[in-house]
Amino acid sequence: MPVILIGFMGTGKSTVGRLLAESMNQSFCDLDELIEKEAGMTIPTYFDTYGEQVFRQLEQDLLKKAIDEYDILSTGGGTPTISANQKVIQAAMGRTIKLDAPIDEIRARIGDDMNRPIFKKLSQQAFNELKEKRDAIYNKFCDVIIDTSQKNPREIVAEIKALIYSNTDELNYASL
Ligand code: S3P
Repeated sequence: MPVILIGFMGTGKSTVGRLLAESMNQSFCDLDELIEKEAGMTIPTYFDTYGEQVFRQLEQDLLKKAIDEYDILSTGGGTPTISANQKVIQAAMGRTIKLDAPIDEIRARIGDDMNRPIFKKLSQQAFNELKEKRDAIYNKFCDVIIDTSQKNPREIVAEIKALIYSNTDELNYASL
């Protein structure tokens, strides 16, 4: 049963996913990294060369493979906004965990990281609006939301593990 981390860019999906996998001794895949490996170039270069639509197709193709092959998966911020991807994530019957943070904290974390083509091209207002729009989508189909603000990655990992092992109703999983 995979653990799938979703959420807006800058919420710590990659760092937390990697640490969670390490601490649970499970296999880990960062979808963005898999895409870069498969494409043989960085995501910004891929966006510049082929455009977002082609990127989304590659992302979709690799999502299924990653879910089938790995225990813990960190997705890209846009991955769960595509309906085909939502179906693949839901069909995995895993634990879908949304990481969240306030927009100002996200902005501070991302800083001037130009590795994020979506962030690079949007005005401040458009970026805020995108988060709101995407949050509504993430919220609809995640099992649990973890607020990462003012927490370090280890604390977040501890929180996720507590949820996974608690066997309570906090997570919506039929099979937990
Ligand atoms: C994207 C987020 C990125 C990456 C790509 C597109 C998005 O991942 O997949 O740049 O649409 O929000 P992170 O969420 O890890 O930044």
